[in-house]
Amino acid sequence: MNLENITKIYQTKEREITALNNINYTFSKGKFYAIMGHSGSGKSTLISIMGLIEPYTSGKYYINGKDTSKLNDQELSYLRMKYFGFIFQDYYLDEHLNAYENVILPMLINKEISKKYRKDKALSLLSKVGLKERINHFPKEMSGGEQQRVAIARALANDPEIILADEPTGNLDRQNEELIFQELKKLSKEGKCIVVVSHSDEVKKYADIIIELDNGNMVS
Ligand SMILES: Nc1ncnc2c1ncn2[C@@H]1O[C@H](COP(=O)(O)OP(=O)(O)OP(=O)(O)O)[C@@H](O)[C@H]1O
Ligand SMILES: [Mg+2]
Repeated sequence: MNLENITKIYQTKEREITALNNINYTFSKGKFYAIMGHSGSGKSTLISIMGLIEPYTSGKYYINGKDTSKLNDQELSYLRMKYFGFIFQDYYLDEHLNAYENVILPMLINKEISKKYRKDKALSLLSKVGLKERINHFPKEMSGGEQQRVAIARALANDPEIILADEPTGNLDRQNEELIFQELKKLSKEGKCIVVVSHSDEVKKYADIIIELDNGNMVS
């Protein structure tokens, strides 16, 4: 992923807010990036732009050499599904679905894969994150750390190259936080690009590269 002079300006009724100011950066496979910075510095905005959730105001953003400004909504959703897995602070699991069904869900959009493949994949992902014994549990019946591990399994369902995580351990205790960072670290060693927004100093132990944002500027 290659960002060239990416700027994001939010237009509100009263004023313009420059959430990101001329960001130039290339993210590579097999690396664990931590994005840090004070509240309002632009971390979530950066993650949303990278994940093709938010449009940028100016600049160029390439994914595997593809200029994302040239794509229509359908092409953008396809790229989003193909390249990215998302993990958020509040898990966003569907509370009416059990762990297994939550992991199956993103695979339903992908018409190219069979029912059997989906089933095997969901089971293998859940056992990979240590939840083989919890596949029939609903979110309410799991701890915060377990729910976040379901979210990781779900993020991996479509074999993305890139995992974008916004405060994935914000609601977890230290022990569960470590488990999640260890899991993400393992994935980066397997060749995935991991980008984690975190306020926690703990992330520094795991990150290969720390990116600091200050008022929309990349300072390191
Ligand atoms: N939809 C929006 N409309 C207007 N301004 C916005 C919008 N979203 C974010 N902003 C502003 O853009 C700036 C960057 O916000 P962003 O959410 O990226 O910060 P952050 O670094 O993720 O902060 P936090 O650590 O609190 O989550 C902030 O000044 C924020 O108020
Ligand atoms: Mg944020």
